[in-house]
Amino acid sequence: MNSPDSNEQGVADLARPEIRALEAYASARALADSAGILLNANENPWPPAGDEGLALNRYPDPQPAGLRQRLAELYGTGAENLLITRGSDEGIDLLLRVFCRPGVDRVLVCPPCFGMYALSARVQGAEVVEAPLVERESEHGYAFDLAPDLEEKADGCRIVFLCSPNNPTGNTIDADRVAALAEARAETGLVVVDEAYVEFAPETSMLTLLERHPNLVLLRTLSKAHALAGCRLGSVIARPEVIGLLRRIIAPYPLPTPTVAIALRALDDDALAAERAHLEMLAAERTRLIEVLEASPGISRVWKGAANFVLVRAVDGKRLVAEAARAGIRLRDQSAQPGLADCVRITVGTPEENAALIDFLRQWHPAESPA
Ligand SMILES: Cc1ncc(COP(=O)(O)O)c(C=O)c1O
Repeated sequence: MNSPDSNEQGVADLARPEIRALEAYASARALADSAGILLNANENPWPPAGDEGLALNRYPDPQPAGLRQRLAELYGTGAENLLITRGSDEGIDLLLRVFCRPGVDRVLVCPPCFGMYALSARVQGAEVVEAPLVERESEHGYAFDLAPDLEEKADGCRIVFLCSPNNPTGNTIDADRVAALAEARAETGLVVVDEAYVEFAPETSMLTLLERHPNLVLLRTLSKAHALAGCRLGSVIARPEVIGLLRRIIAPYPLPTPTVAIALRALDDDALAAERAHLEMLAAERTRLIEVLEASPGISRVWKGAANFVLVRAVDGKRLVAEAARAGIRLRDQSAQPGLADCVRITVGTPEENAALIDFLRQWHPAESPA
């Protein structure tokens, strides 16, 4: 995956010239290993109270090798293909800052989708082009799909953001279409596939496509299936050339020592086995929730999706969100997204939390409740 070829030169060429010319800040901990007498980083020589062996008086390793290796094994790639970030949110931001020239480059998003692609693009001064998803009906129910004209709209865009399974619609994306898109755009831009929810889906990661498509970038996160949203840890998986460019601009010490220690514990074999049991439980709970939602008079459509949430259209979406909140249950209003009038995203919770939601839904009669 990391052997140099002419295409790899091409992918680095897609970056902003000023980033390619940039010399990264060389922090003390990145320059030398942390053995010996450490008088090179203006740190305090004594650990703080409550340190618990973490050496919190020292700056952390910018990309701790142990966690990087563990994540690379988990995702089935090489450590040189992976950058650890403060959540996928930071990965999205880094990609935009490295590849999009303010006021010049454009990015493509496929709404309804995760809002950070467009927000981070606008912060960077990149124009946002939209190729809205289209709805289709099949024997399995309603689902969303990529727009038929996505390839044309992607023309002239420096980054195409895709998400599979997509938030908030839950649909997955056909890997062959992603491969063809990456192929067609090899000289002109990146295709970023956000796989934040892939652990919940029957489909596997698109990692194998990276071998043939140097302009493909994958985003993974520990926030969802790995239950570490509070740790803020994500991974960008890409060719080493892309990883190297992102490293030029990432903050010098992005990953706090305690965060790294907790993540390593949460990714050991026992923890992963416990996590698999939770994933199975979530899948069963999702099925139970979908059955109730499909039978609810206040719900007019259910998009089952492949993630740990279900998107529904309610008779009155805002009222559903407001009245669920009054019952102590927080749901996410999606009605501001294009094509999602009255739509609400419901995350699958514990069996007890879902039971509370089901009780609420069974007695919820939108026509009768007060405005
Ligand atoms: C599709 C998608 N990508 C990325 C993220 C952000 O992930 P992280 O917590 O790793 O920043 C989210 C969070 O909800 C998401 O839904």
